[in-house]
Amino acid sequence: MNKDEILQMLTVKDATALYAEADRVRREYVGDAVHLRGLIEFSNACGRDCLYCGIRRSNRSVQRYRMSVDEIFACAKEAKILGFKSLVLQSGESAQYTLDEMCSLLRRIKQEQGLAITLSIGEKTRAEYEALKQAGADRYLLRFETSSEKLFCELKPDSLQQKRMQCLAWLREVGFQVGSGIMVGLPGQTISMIADDILLMQELDLDMVGFGPFIADPTTPLGDAGSASLDLTLRTLAVIRIVMKNVHIPATTAMGTIDPEGRQKALKAGANVLMPNVTPTQYREMYQLYPGKPGLKQAPSDTFDTLVRLVQSIGRTVADDAGHSLKILK
Ligand code: 5AD
Repeated sequence: MNKDEILQMLTVKDATALYAEADRVRREYVGDAVHLRGLIEFSNACGRDCLYCGIRRSNRSVQRYRMSVDEIFACAKEAKILGFKSLVLQSGESAQYTLDEMCSLLRRIKQEQGLAITLSIGEKTRAEYEALKQAGADRYLLRFETSSEKLFCELKPDSLQQKRMQCLAWLREVGFQVGSGIMVGLPGQTISMIADDILLMQELDLDMVGFGPFIADPTTPLGDAGSASLDLTLRTLAVIRIVMKNVHIPATTAMGTIDPEGRQKALKAGANVLMPNVTPTQYREMYQLYPGKPGLKQAPSDTFDTLVRLVQSIGRTVADDAGHSLKILK
């Protein structure tokens, strides 16, 4: 699909048919099962100063935490008991853990729990990615955030877009299933940029597309910028599904934050993954990339059950496999 066709879909007056088509493509290419991935936000220490993010380095109002390797392992064990087949380990970008610590944690989770593991821990060297893959991580999420170089530089003053793209290439080279994506509705972002973002996702031949609406955080420099609408978010989601077909697309927490029904709506407009938070409750309040995140006080079992009910309420099933890339299975 070319840029004009993508733009046309993104801006169609009434998006009802667009959502229906995305839902049809989702059913045809990925089926009715929804994958639940337990998300462990294991540290909010971050060396980056991204303008949009609530845990940016210079945000002094954030109390920083770092879960010990044993705590992370215990949390993974609990997720396994709850019924999860896969985990996402996410943190800020920092050198809080040595490579050896991370690798031995991954080996332990793999050997003892047998869970599929997605990492979301930012930019690393190729050698580090290789070691993490060897130690047992299966997938890696690294959003490119925006394809516009100008916007990228403005929003991520201490990062280079070229470096991020290099990291995505390395992740692929060392054998990860690769996930990337954007924020929709960023200040300064245009519809044309979103169309370019979608073309870039296609070019990267991603296994997963993780994206969500930008939500203004009052403790950041973008606190007064308006948050994204669910409408634009769902349109973007639907187009990504129609264009990319057999990718995994989560109905992200941020979608559930801007609208209490956001995740259900997303599941009906192309999404097929949910990432329930299984982080110990005492840490959740400190991991707010944006305000208003639901379920801050819920115990992991509550969020697991809540999401199973959510999936069933819209006539879908919970997947009983690890939910690996649909591209490598074919
Ligand atoms: N609103 C929405 N999403 C955000 N992220 C960071 N800050 C915000 C925000 N204010 C997203 C980024 C990052 C992911 C982990 O969270 O896209 O890659």
